[in-house]
Amino acid sequence: MVVSGPLTPGQVSFLLGFFPVLVAWIYSEMLEYRRSSSPPKVHSDINLVELGNETVKEDDRAVLLEGGLTKSTSVKFLNASIRTNLIRFITMDETFLLENRALLKAMSEFGAILAYFYLCDRTNLFSESKKSYSRDLFLFLYILFIIASAMTSLTKHHDKSAFSGKSILYLNRHQTEEWKGWMQVLFLMYHYFAASEIYNAIRVFIAAYVWMTGFGNFSYYYIRKDFSLARFAQMMWRLNFFVAFCCIVLNNDYMLYYICPMHTLFTLMVYGTLGIFSKYNEIGSVMAMKLISCFLMVILIWEVPGVFELLWAPLTFLLGYKDPEPSKANLPLLHEWHFRSGLDRYIWIIGMIYAYLHPTIERWMEKLEESETKRRFVIKTSIVSSSLVVGYLWYEYIYKLDKLSYNKLHPYTSWIPITVYICLRNCTQQLRNYSLTLIAWLGKITLETYISQIHIWLRSGIPNGQPKWLLSFIPDYPLLNFLLTTAIYLLLSYRVFDLTNVLKSAFVPTKDNKRLLHNLIAGVAISFCLYFISLILVHIPRFSG
Ligand SMILES: *[C@@H]1O[C@H](CO)[C@@H](O)[C@H](O)[C@H]1NC(C)=O
Ligand SMILES: *[C@@H]1O[C@H](CO)[C@@H](O)[C@H](O)[C@H]1NC(C)=O
Repeated sequence: MVVSGPLTPGQVSFLLGFFPVLVAWIYSEMLEYRRSSSPPKVHSDINLVELGNETVKEDDRAVLLEGGLTKSTSVKFLNASIRTNLIRFITMDETFLLENRALLKAMSEFGAILAYFYLCDRTNLFSESKKSYSRDLFLFLYILFIIASAMTSLTKHHDKSAFSGKSILYLNRHQTEEWKGWMQVLFLMYHYFAASEIYNAIRVFIAAYVWMTGFGNFSYYYIRKDFSLARFAQMMWRLNFFVAFCCIVLNNDYMLYYICPMHTLFTLMVYGTLGIFSKYNEIGSVMAMKLISCFLMVILIWEVPGVFELLWAPLTFLLGYKDPEPSKANLPLLHEWHFRSGLDRYIWIIGMIYAYLHPTIERWMEKLEESETKRRFVIKTSIVSSSLVVGYLWYEYIYKLDKLSYNKLHPYTSWIPITVYICLRNCTQQLRNYSLTLIAWLGKITLETYISQIHIWLRSGIPNGQPKWLLSFIPDYPLLNFLLTTAIYLLLSYRVFDLTNVLKSAFVPTKDNKRLLHNLIAGVAISFCLYFISLILVHIPRFSG
């Protein structure tokens, strides 16, 4: 097994944090096992010696159990200060370990998954194989997937509209997730099979995700008006927790996972747009001013030469990216960020506009559904046919351009296919009510599948490397290998999705800003200490050698 390069201080800090947690969890499982399985009589001699002080704790536990374990646990955890908790953790306090067994388990599992990432991507334990593209196989697999989803998971939904209480008409969560799902599958297969001929379509899919960021976040903040710190922290956690650990453990730049900084930026922009002067959001003219200022800001930053570099230069340490590929090594550090964020610079605003008009359109559609058959038919047919014509024209004159010319037009035209899709997807009541839940399930874990693919499905091999290879468990059987790696990859992505949520609810309290702040400070302090120790550890061989 060849490990690429020496360990970085970040990786050592991860190990320093991970092992105590893992040991604590295993110990807590043993405690739990002992507590639940063996009556005191079975205790061996060694245990008898300890029995004296154990009985006291046993009483403690009994109190806990009587009070309803889950409730008192969380109350206890909340009330104890962070320092007390830390001391109890370091001294391996048994009650503490038993109380927090689930959390320790989640943290250990998360750490183990990251270790697996490292094993797959940065050691030669498993081999790698070359990507190969066959349009026939690519389409066959994709169509097979769609058919399988349609046969097993076509579901009718009976949700009510948030606005009128009638059956939902326009844009709902099932459809959005389904939309994300089928795009994600194509996007991932594009990477796996190196299907460079659909490059332009992939650009449109990314634009659609950003559109949904604008749409979803606008609707949320506009209706709920929840600009609280807790909500903000949860959102940032969801978007960046996993990717931050991947960067540390695999020694990568944040920009390697460009979707994350991009979504973070646009989410912040939507948050800012609605959060500033949020009292006046209901007034149409104020909202129009806000949207216009968004456009003006984007024009200033991205269209005026030099502004982008000036503005982002202070954040180069975070957003810079150096491709190890020799042909791209000379590009400026911010080039990748400029390119990626520039492609979708307008579409999030379009998403906000659609979200703002949403109630109006929904009301209009309701009226349309209730109108007489002939009128309805005429209107719908004209909408569908004009969508088809526009879609065709876009395909013929824009989509078919080569990669470079297409990218130039993309920021100004990506709203066209998105709008066409929305019109067609929602044109009849039946189409609106049905969705494919298998695909929607995949749509929920897009962030995790996006990040994981680089390391446990594909392989990049070196820090900051683009995933040029395929991870290979079964050499010489490409399809079987595809099946096996895909199964593991999807399972782990789903676990990470769950674990991110579990850890979020443990560390980001919803209604207690003071505690949130304390957690943040404690987190930073602990990371800093670990990092400092690691820095010394990493340098010891150099001093002694
Ligand atoms: C309509 O289509 C889009 C696309 O699926 C979707 O996000 C939205 O949820 C659908 N509903 C409507 C009606 O727009
Ligand atoms: C806001 O956008 C982010 C990024 O796409 C997404 O993960 C999140 O779910 C959105 N929030 C809401 C409330 O839709």
